[in-house]
Amino acid sequence: MSLLNILRYPDPRLHKIAKPVTVFDERLKKLVEDMAETMYDAPGVGLAASQVDVHRQLIVIDTSETRSDLRVFINPEIVWASAELQVYEEGCLSVPGIYDGVERHSQVKVKALDAEGKSFEVEAEGLLAVCIQHEMDHLKGKVFVEYLSPLKRNRIKAKMLKEEREMQRDKKHSAAR
Ligand code: NI
Repeated sequence: MSLLNILRYPDPRLHKIAKPVTVFDERLKKLVEDMAETMYDAPGVGLAASQVDVHRQLIVIDTSETRSDLRVFINPEIVWASAELQVYEEGCLSVPGIYDGVERHSQVKVKALDAEGKSFEVEAEGLLAVCIQHEMDHLKGKVFVEYLSPLKRNRIKAKMLKEEREMQRDKKHSAAR
C-alpha cells in the first residue's frame, strides 16, 4: 500500500468531472486500498478519487469512531433525498484547516457498486449522509467552499495560495541545505 498525494484547493484538477468506473480489476482494488490508507493517515472521514487526481467515480468513507468501518462507493447515485435539510460544520482534506457550515439533505439513499462491482444500497443520516454528499460533490468537480459566500471563498483561496507558496519555499530551503 502507499500514501497518495492529496490535491489542495484551488488546484484546477479538483474541478474535473469523474467518469464512471467500468473495470473492476486488481488495479482498482489497489487504488481503493491506497485511498483508504491515505484517508486514515490524513486523518479524514472521507476521500474522493478526484482528490488524488484520479478522475473516476470512487469514494472511500469511514465515519466510525473506531476507524474500523470502511465503506467504498463506486459510481454512486443518490436515489432518494429527504426534504429536510441540516447544516453541518464541514472540512475537507483538500482545504486543510478550514471548517464551515454547509446545508445538505439530512437523509439520503444511495445506490453504488462495491470494489467487486456488486450493487448495493444504503440509507444514511447524520455525518454519513453529509460525508456521502460532500464526497459525491468532489466527483462532480465541486469543493465544499463553493457553497460559501464569494467573500469567504476568496479569503480561503488567498490563504491556501499563501500556504502553498510557503510550502514551496520551505521545500527549496531544505533542498539547498
Ligand atoms: Ni472534501
